[in-house]
Amino acid sequence: MSTVSTSPLASKGGAPVRSAEKAWPKWPIFDDLERKALMDVLESGNWFLSDRVVQFEKEYAAFQDAKYCVAVNSGTAALEIMLQALGVGHGDEVIVPPYTFVATASAVLRVGAEVTFVDVDETWNLNPDRIEAAITERTKAIIPVHFASAVADMDRINAIAEKHGIAVIEDACHSWGSKWKGKGTGALGKGGAFSFQMSKNITAGEGGVIVTDDEDFGDLCRSISNCGRHKGAAWYEHTEVGTNARMGEFGAAVLSAQLTRLEAQTLFSTSVYPPSKASRRNPAIPA
Ligand SMILES: Cc1ncc(COP(=O)(O)O)c(C=O)c1O
Repeated sequence: MSTVSTSPLASKGGAPVRSAEKAWPKWPIFDDLERKALMDVLESGNWFLSDRVVQFEKEYAAFQDAKYCVAVNSGTAALEIMLQALGVGHGDEVIVPPYTFVATASAVLRVGAEVTFVDVDETWNLNPDRIEAAITERTKAIIPVHFASAVADMDRINAIAEKHGIAVIEDACHSWGSKWKGKGTGALGKGGAFSFQMSKNITAGEGGVIVTDDEDFGDLCRSISNCGRHKGAAWYEHTEVGTNARMGEFGAAVLSAQLTRLEAQTLFSTSVYPPSKASRRNPAIPA
């Protein structure tokens, strides 16, 4: 029988695993780029829905190889808005992996639908082999999560969804810059949600986007995120039951600055928090 040696906890006088001198890495990362961008917005007097949001939307769409981008105030809002735009609601079911942040599932509940959990495989992403058995006549959507930047098998998930006439929206909240067979995540299905909350590889403290290649879907998501206002309509004309989930100019200015060093921030972040073995195993992620 093997014996396990134990030592006292550091709080009881044992040797600390991490020495007090070793500082925790500083996060978020910023420099004069963010300082200047923030001051420019401050002094412009345009703090709301102006050039910076439009600019960041263009930059982020191009970055993820998507045609359209709608800036919102969180990844959670992005998921909820896309589900509303798909018409998912009471009586509907949505397939979600259980290994994710709570928002993937809570977004489904918030629009009044039911969550059907389908387990992950050895990549830690939704297991395509188990999806079909979970589909019923009430299933309206599948939300694969690209966990820790490892891309779910979008070819198989899209093929299953197409066969059953259901939508795929990606929870791409961890997958800034990830690609599936050469195309960025987010617009591989109907649309995708990204998060820029403070733990993320680029951040404005809070923030999110929806990306899509479908102009009508993008317009509807924008309308829902902007109090139901409609493209080309009067400011107080509200054609959808929407919410206010708009990104502000300060957030957009910081995110444009952050995007210029996404690669460096990702390398730093992964050196502190090594990527999972799963992401290394995923064929879409270079070793
Ligand atoms: C997988 C996943 N989905 C959704 C979200 C929600 O994003 P946010 O915190 O911006 O609302 C997160 C954020 O941590 C996440 O990790």
